[in-house]
Amino acid sequence: MSRGQGPRIYLSPPDMSDQERARLLDAFDSNWIAPLGPEVDAFERELAKRVGVHDAAALNSGTAALHLALILLEVGADDEVWTSTLTFAATANAIRYVGATPVFIDSERETWNMDPELLREALRDASQRSALPKALIVVDLYGQCANYDSILEACGEYGVPVVEDAAEALGATYRGKPAGSFGAIGVLSFNGNKIMTTSGGGALLSNDAALVERARHLASQAKQPAAHYEHEEVGYNYRLSNLLAAVGRAQLARLDGFVERRRDINRRYREALEAVDGIDFLPEAPNGRSTCWLTCVLLDEDQLGVGPSEARQHLETHNIEARPVWKPMHLQPVNRSCRVIRGAVAEDLFVRGLCLPSGSTLSDEEQQRVIDAFLETPRLRRDGQ
Ligand SMILES: Cc1ncc(COP(=O)(O)O)c(C=O)c1O
Repeated sequence: MSRGQGPRIYLSPPDMSDQERARLLDAFDSNWIAPLGPEVDAFERELAKRVGVHDAAALNSGTAALHLALILLEVGADDEVWTSTLTFAATANAIRYVGATPVFIDSERETWNMDPELLREALRDASQRSALPKALIVVDLYGQCANYDSILEACGEYGVPVVEDAAEALGATYRGKPAGSFGAIGVLSFNGNKIMTTSGGGALLSNDAALVERARHLASQAKQPAAHYEHEEVGYNYRLSNLLAAVGRAQLARLDGFVERRRDINRRYREALEAVDGIDFLPEAPNGRSTCWLTCVLLDEDQLGVGPSEARQHLETHNIEARPVWKPMHLQPVNRSCRVIRGAVAEDLFVRGLCLPSGSTLSDEEQQRVIDAFLETPRLRRDGQ
């Protein structure tokens, strides 16, 4: 085997144990398969408790949860929904599903999340023009909560409801409060690359139990209680299956361990790379605790001699998966007609950013392989040499 080669190291693979397997098989053997059942009910209760909200609806994706959140807030075709430009496409797509117009807001340097000051200014301006957004979707990026003190204050002032897209941040806290609990509605994802996974899945959370009940109704084809299935509105097939909820319950019970492991991985990357001139890490704000879902670095090509693309391609030659930081939504061709409020910070994070393998299954030896391979990127200058 040539130097640096070995089994593939993935960015953020699932972390499964005998517990998930046992729960899945128990659910299977119980024959609660089609598709709801007691595991879904228990998973919803446990999720709500963990996030500290009244209720949770288990769904088949985070994207479905975002879509339903906007329906519940009665967002429609003539509305604007403002959101973070630095996010995964699902956040913006949900806005399009309901026919509304997304407006993108730039990031702050402190957390890479939505810039609260920019938001406040834009809300003030929109209010003067009687053009306030119908809702705001705030994204908690890469395992870290946005600055909710400022964001919720600004939105409260202008009466704009907040959806918290905590798809990437389950397990994080902000001022001791869990991610997913900040908006009128919170959204989680259990997609295969997330800190915990049900292979595919998501949840919609709220303190408003009636809202969550309505989400369940819409997510199960909006069937009215009649033997012949009466439908008064358009429904969706968005519920999580009982089998996958069983996996989710076992994963949730291990969530604290996943967070600790990902934070350890982040600490080790920092120890190995932070001193190198030209490498900066996604900062952790002092008022929160990140899960470090993905460890992200910014590479200064002038200082370092290489940029993220060369580093990523070099890691690939060592069979290591790394990824660019999200391409901002305002730069995506599909959103070319949408308005952006500034955008230069997110653009810079995209140009210089790289996400390193961060999964909780990553062993110390594998992480060392990543670090060694990264530092051996051709033309990479260490310590400004
Ligand atoms: C910020 C963000 N929002 C929404 C989603 C969508 O979640 P899902 O893949 O479960 O639909 C994801 C990830 O997949 C995400 O990273």
